[in-house]
Amino acid sequence: MAEKVILTGDRPTGRLHIGHYVGSLRRRVQLQNEGGYKDMFVFIADAQALTDNFDNPEKVRQNVVEVALDYLACGLDPSKVTIFIQSAIPELAELSFYFMNLVTVARLQRNPTVKTEIKMRGFGEGDDAVFGSGLPVGFFTYPISQAADITLFKATMVPVGADQKPMLEQTVEIVRKFNSIYGETLVEPEIVLPQNAASQRLPGTDGKAKMSKSLGNCIYLGTDPLHINVADPGHVEGNAVFTYLDAFCRDEHFGLYWPEYANLDELKAHYTKGGLGDVKCKRFLEKVLNEELEPIRARRKEFEKDIPAVYEMLRKGVDKARETAARTMDEVRKAMKINYFDDKALIEEQSKKYSL
Ligand code: TRP
Repeated sequence: MAEKVILTGDRPTGRLHIGHYVGSLRRRVQLQNEGGYKDMFVFIADAQALTDNFDNPEKVRQNVVEVALDYLACGLDPSKVTIFIQSAIPELAELSFYFMNLVTVARLQRNPTVKTEIKMRGFGEGDDAVFGSGLPVGFFTYPISQAADITLFKATMVPVGADQKPMLEQTVEIVRKFNSIYGETLVEPEIVLPQNAASQRLPGTDGKAKMSKSLGNCIYLGTDPLHINVADPGHVEGNAVFTYLDAFCRDEHFGLYWPEYANLDELKAHYTKGGLGDVKCKRFLEKVLNEELEPIRARRKEFEKDIPAVYEMLRKGVDKARETAARTMDEVRKAMKINYFDDKALIEEQSKKYSL
């Protein structure tokens, strides 16, 4: 059994919102604090963000520090977790290059997440990635580079949202192919999903679609909880207020703010039966969200006071991550027989061959 290594990342294309929080950030902080791992890595996937924002590098650059601040605000602790920037790890490009040999175009075309994203971004059949409407190779192949992100660090656990499942499946396939051809070198990762359905797909404040920046229905981690406005509820099912409660509310919140009920099931039962007003439920949600988000917002404000320290934290994270990266690449080069200069036996064998 490989030692436990936890790894995950986010594209820096905007500030993180409570969908990210319940979908993955909260779990990471839990895992960080539980301990029992050899390493834990969390990284800002700026290179992946550039695969569909290559023409807007300033956006990516601006959001790197936003994401770093969100990490720190949520409670990721650089003394326990290595936080780094993807583009600063050249070994990732190197490993991706070799992984490309192990994946077919047809397999990439079948990746459901990539399929959906290609449609969403309107990449068509055009032959010009920059000025036309074509599909850039970099974007099409990002599942391969994501497999490199995961395996370069020998991650065993990857806490992400359910939309990342196809990426993990492709990674496992690549690991198996690599190991079967070149010998046991890389480690198969496992996905770690959020605990409940509400957390896996948090709806936006419009109560309909998934929370997403492009739909403008987000509650950002920096949002003042008093200004949160959630669509008017109807039934428990498909009701954003209750879905948020599913994702955020714990039994102790009732003791604190609404002692008439012991837990969410009791509240739902009463609401379904009738005679319980929406406004009361919303007020309660406001308190629950406030309890969870207020400390995050306050911590963010503190970290915002020393931005150079945030960059310094990231730089140190890069240095640390590169140590692991270099070690894995040594093993990969050896396994792939491209380690020409550190293999005495090879040089002797070649000399012999020509001295016969
Ligand atoms: N694709 C992920 C997302 O959009 C970000 C990501 C890049 C990632 N590389 C990763 C997540 C490796 C986990 C592991 O959220």
